[in-house]
This record gives sequence, structure tokens and C-alpha cells, in this order.
Amino acid sequence: MQHSPTYTLLEAKNWQDYELLDSGDGLKLERFGKYIFARPESQAMWRRALPQKDWDMAHAVFQPTAEESGGHWDFKKRVDEKWVMSYPLPNVGELKFEVMTTPGRHLGVFPEVASHWDFMAGLIQKAGRPVRVLNLFGYTGLASLAAAAAGAQVTHVDASKKSVSWGRENQALSGLNEKPIRWIVEDAIKYMQREEKRGVKYDGIILDPPKFGRGPKGEVWEVYKSLPNLFEICRACMSNDPLFVIATLYAVRASAIHVAQALDEMMKKYNGNMDSGELVTRETSANRLLSQAVYARWSAK
Ligand SMILES: C[S@@+](CC[C@H](N)C(=O)[O-])C[C@H]1O[C@@H](n2cnc3c(N)ncnc32)[C@H](O)[C@@H]1O
Repeated sequence: MQHSPTYTLLEAKNWQDYELLDSGDGLKLERFGKYIFARPESQAMWRRALPQKDWDMAHAVFQPTAEESGGHWDFKKRVDEKWVMSYPLPNVGELKFEVMTTPGRHLGVFPEVASHWDFMAGLIQKAGRPVRVLNLFGYTGLASLAAAAAGAQVTHVDASKKSVSWGRENQALSGLNEKPIRWIVEDAIKYMQREEKRGVKYDGIILDPPKFGRGPKGEVWEVYKSLPNLFEICRACMSNDPLFVIATLYAVRASAIHVAQALDEMMKKYNGNMDSGELVTRETSANRLLSQAVYARWSAK
């Protein structure tokens, strides 16, 4: 490897509106603002630490079906259709965003990736020059907002019209309407192929791909097959003075070592630091860690 990576467990420690209250028996109990939810967590192979009465506090429980992402929410108490949460981005300000229970079991925020928001916002602020950031598979836009709030010019790409509108609403809620964010509904690979042809360059790239996905015209995303191709196109779109690249993979049987090696290849001509490992959340009940994703990130020396 060109860069010798460090392997780290990254914990997002600045949350006030989110908590992992407990885990065990294949479930996790979490607080999103004023509401508590129980969701499946197949890796929680231990017993729950909190008594049943605490789990009974959940406003809703996600009941999965046999397919990987199917299921429904079983509401035990009243929950607003949407509510607002915030994240205090260090030295930048507060990000505000809407959350809601969705049929895919997610709520519009992956709290563990906040460590990446802190990391890149710090780099953008320190850069002291205009920074162009690309956020691929950007979902509800929180990484885009963090980059923009720190001073970057951002291009946000996601296949889902609904997620992109949600991102725009989050931009307004956070008071960041004046910040330059381009919101694009498009297949990630198709969009990047066009950017390469146009000669567009980026100083920072965030990739948060799902295991499987579809572009707006049914284009198939399959992480093991598609990621090497996407990395190659991203390499062609790196500026001469790149600041960072962050890749995060959820729900895949990939070690952080492999993601780091793929990213190392992408960034081999640049002098920088490679850091990779797992994004983890610590329970408040028994202090155990839940590993949510693997990541690799490169930053300029
Ligand atoms: C939920 S986020 C990533 C969060 C987390 N990594 C996960 O796996 O659930 C994944 C995003 O990728 C988007 N997506 C899926 N396939 C895509 C494609 N081919 N091009 C662009 N975006 C895509 C989805 O719309 C979604 O917002």
C-alpha cells in the first residue's frame, strides 16, 4: 500500500438529540429527539442490559419481514409524522433536520456518520481556500449541509427525488439557503461519467453507497461490482490539490482493510494520510459498542 493506514473505531460523541439506549437479542433501542424506537440489529448477539419496562417505553417497534429491508413500524404511542432534530457541528454551528419513520426502517439520519461531518468540516475550515465537495449517495443531505456550513461549494447526488427534496428542506431548516449546494437527482455513476467528460474537479469526495441500489432510470448499483468503477471515475475528477475522500460502507461483508486498499489505489499519486476502521455507537446502558459500518478516508498531509 502507498499510504500506511491506521485502523480506528470512530465514535460520534457530540450528539445530544440521539442516543443508543440499549442493545441485545438482535435489537437496538434508540432515542431520536423526543421519541424512542426499537429496531432490528442482527449483530447485537448479547442480552439486553435494560429491563423490559425500559424497552416498553419505545414509541414504535420496527417489525421486519423476511426480505432484507422490508417490514413495518408497529406504533405503541403517538408519533408526529415529522419532527426536527439538531446536531452541533463543532466550531461551525447547529445543523437542523427533519426525521420521520420510513418503510425502510431508517429515519432520515445515520447518527454514527457524524464523526465524518466533524472531520471534513474541520478540514474545509482549515483549508483557507475555496473547496469543492461532492457528496455521492447523499440521502437527506446532512453531510452536504455540514460541508456547506463549513464553507464548501457542494454538489449533492442521489437517485431518489424524495431524499433530495428532504435534503433541500433540511438546508432551509438549518438556515443554510444562502450556501452553494447543487441538488442533483441522478445515478451516481452516470453523473460522474458526465462530470469527467466536462472536466469538473473536486477537492473533497464523500461516498456513502448502499449495498444494492437503483438509479432513477433503473440503473443497477451493486457495491462490489460498481465501487471499483466509481472509484476510478472519481480519481479522474480529483483536483490537483485534494483535501479528503471519505468512503463508508454499510451492511456489507467487507473489512475496513479492503475499503482502505481500494481507496489507496484511487489516491496513490497524492501525498496524504489514510485512516480506516469502523463507525461505532456506544450504548448508554452497558457501554458496549455497536459497529454500524466500515469506512476508509484519505486526507491531505
Ligand atoms: C441511505 S443512503 C446511504 C446510507 C447507508 N450507507 C445505507 O446503506 O443505508 C443510500 C442512498 O443511496 C441512494 N442511491 C441508491 N442507488 C443509487 C444510485 N444508483 N445512484 C445514486 N444514488 C443512489 C439512495 O437513494 C439512498 O439515498
